[in-house]
Amino acid sequence: MKILAIESSCDETAAAVIEDGVKILSTVVSSSEDLHREIGGIIPETAARQQLHSILPVIEKVIAPFSISSPTAKKNPSKLIEEIQRNIDGIAVTIGPGLIGSLLVGVETAKTLAYSTGKSLIPVNHISAHLYANWLDRKKIPEFPAIGLVVSGGHTELFFLKNHREWKWLGGTRDDAAGETFDKTARLLELGYPGGPAIAAEAEKLTTLDSQLSIKLPRPMFDSKDFQFSFSGLKTAVIRKVQELQSTNQWDEQIVIQLAHEIQESITDVLVKKTLDAVKKYAVKSILLGGGVAANRRLSEKFNLQISSRFNREKSKINLHVPPPSLCTDNAAYIGSFAYFCGKPASLSEVNAEPNLELEV
Ligand code: KG4
Ligand code: ZN
Repeated sequence: MKILAIESSCDETAAAVIEDGVKILSTVVSSSEDLHREIGGIIPETAARQQLHSILPVIEKVIAPFSISSPTAKKNPSKLIEEIQRNIDGIAVTIGPGLIGSLLVGVETAKTLAYSTGKSLIPVNHISAHLYANWLDRKKIPEFPAIGLVVSGGHTELFFLKNHREWKWLGGTRDDAAGETFDKTARLLELGYPGGPAIAAEAEKLTTLDSQLSIKLPRPMFDSKDFQFSFSGLKTAVIRKVQELQSTNQWDEQIVIQLAHEIQESITDVLVKKTLDAVKKYAVKSILLGGGVAANRRLSEKFNLQISSRFNREKSKINLHVPPPSLCTDNAAYIGSFAYFCGKPASLSEVNAEPNLELEV
């Protein structure tokens, strides 16, 4: 079964064709990140306008490998509809959560294509779908039961997955998300946007983990017995630290590297601890990571170290699944995979953009 998936919840316009939930036949991502980098964050109107500009070219490009007309042939909407009709079995689209203007572009386009081709339409929750990057082009498919951690720009959510259909939300952030904390603290350190990769690159410059490392930041809610997260206290601690270091003339390149390192350590410590607490409680076989922050190398490294030290890895056979970086950040491939395994086709009138969509499958 071939699904054409469309994703437009934030600043990426993406489309993909996925076969049987596991094989990427074609994928295209167009990002307006460069525009947002200049101002250090996302302006919703700019993102929506960019979505409008990119959506049809992106879908045309993703369908092009299936086209029987020559690549130089003049494109027109009826050709696109014919090609979808001939090659695709269903259409999946992100309906939320996300920015209303951006979501509307993808949802209305998907509805129009479903109406004109007669194909079924499958609405998808962007957050849950992130975990399905772990089913794409893999030698080893994740085994259930699993714990899923979605760490993106706007979300930090922990799930227990009994199977494709039975999920339980265990907890999430009370305030800032992990990615948001990377982005906001990177701005304080003047490292640019998006902050996660910028902080990770800066932290890697720290070569000697010696005793001169004087900066210590809090690990919010590290010892709480629940699965809730909170990162705003970390952000406040970084603001205070930056003010203190700048006012006492201690601000230099080395300090920025140390701060970046400690921010990354704090965020990854909390994420790994809570996730492994959930692994223990639910005795699962797999850990699934998803979302932009899952691309963080230190996070995977820490998971691997601690799975070995907290559990007898050989005996317990806990497998960590981390998508490649290109599938961690927003794209449509995992939207198509999720739609195949968990999606339910809906009528056109039931499919609407929902910026505050709740976390359900
Ligand atoms: O999933 P995603 O692409 O978009 C949302 O749905 O939000 O996640 C974007 C977030 C940003 O906050 C970005 O700073 C973070 O993922 N991110 C990273 C890394 N790459 C992206 N955070 C830490 N380390 C990375 N390597
Ligand atoms: Zn996302």
